[in-house]
Amino acid sequence: MSHKITLLTRDKQTFEFPCAEQQNIQGAAEAASLYPPFGCKSGTCGACLGTCDSGDYDLESYSESVLSKEAVAKGDILLCRTLPKADLHITLPYDASSIQQSLTAPRPAEIVSINKIAERTVKLVLQLEEDPELGLVFEFEPGQFVELEIPELNLMRAYSLANTSNWEGRLEFLIRLQPDGKFSDFLQGAKAQQKILVHPASGAFTINKQSANPRSFIAGGTGLAPFLSILSRAVEWAEDHPTHLFLGVNNEAEILCQKELNTLQASLPQLSIEICVWKPENNWQGFIGTPVDAFKAYLSDKTNNDTDVYLCGPPLLVEASTSVAIAAGISEDNIFSERFVSA
Ligand code: FES
Repeated sequence: MSHKITLLTRDKQTFEFPCAEQQNIQGAAEAASLYPPFGCKSGTCGACLGTCDSGDYDLESYSESVLSKEAVAKGDILLCRTLPKADLHITLPYDASSIQQSLTAPRPAEIVSINKIAERTVKLVLQLEEDPELGLVFEFEPGQFVELEIPELNLMRAYSLANTSNWEGRLEFLIRLQPDGKFSDFLQGAKAQQKILVHPASGAFTINKQSANPRSFIAGGTGLAPFLSILSRAVEWAEDHPTHLFLGVNNEAEILCQKELNTLQASLPQLSIEICVWKPENNWQGFIGTPVDAFKAYLSDKTNNDTDVYLCGPPLLVEASTSVAIAAGISEDNIFSERFVSA
């Protein structure tokens, strides 16, 4: 038996397709040549989050770190784990432009550079090879991620893009080196011109352009990457939206992209940046504590509570910041998050 699935995007566009009872919604969408943002397809990354407004369904197993009991109670679902038992109407927290209508093949790229930019953190720069049809262009929305694949090592990892789409085919990533991490090991031995496959951009962690609210960005370490992309686009398009960025690191040696942040701040007068050092080892003059602490202090001034909240980093940071925002009266509809998922 088949049911009608209706997807409603943040910018009020609808997509309809059939879905059999034993089929999950992500699979049914793809069968209809619609590709909403996805990642793991196994209920662990949260990339395919939506909210079911009407209709009955079953949820297959998933990680509670991406879908809490409270979220399930209010109708939140993961498209990749949802089996319909009736027609469903689902609201998605991103614009229609995040839904691809075809899935392009991964594109070959080569390593331009891998430079250490902070303690255990590198910046990876890739150069795409020219495609006969697409040239060097690689389309993505600021805030999205791509999967990088090393076929000969059977390795694939997702990383947010730290720059904006461009005509030169240059892609930038901030990567935290993990002890015994396979991709980290690869990077530490990799050389310029080595090949990497770049899968199409995905992810729903994009700016809600319909909202005029000020924005709070909260990043843990390399969770800064999507915010660099979003703010760089703001500079390119001369969009100076009131924005407060909180960047959290463990100690001063982990502070990353200071120069880039200074440049952004100089170009965006309504941007303020607060670097939060949890355990400073020297005479740190800035905020001491986590970005969650700094965000909480910011919200204690009630005039700051009309903010949209964007969170990127480890699950604990995302969960703690979400709790702080909700306790301050910010609607869950105004909270957007991208959490690091361990390989
Ligand atoms: S794609 Fe559905 S949770 Fe990862």
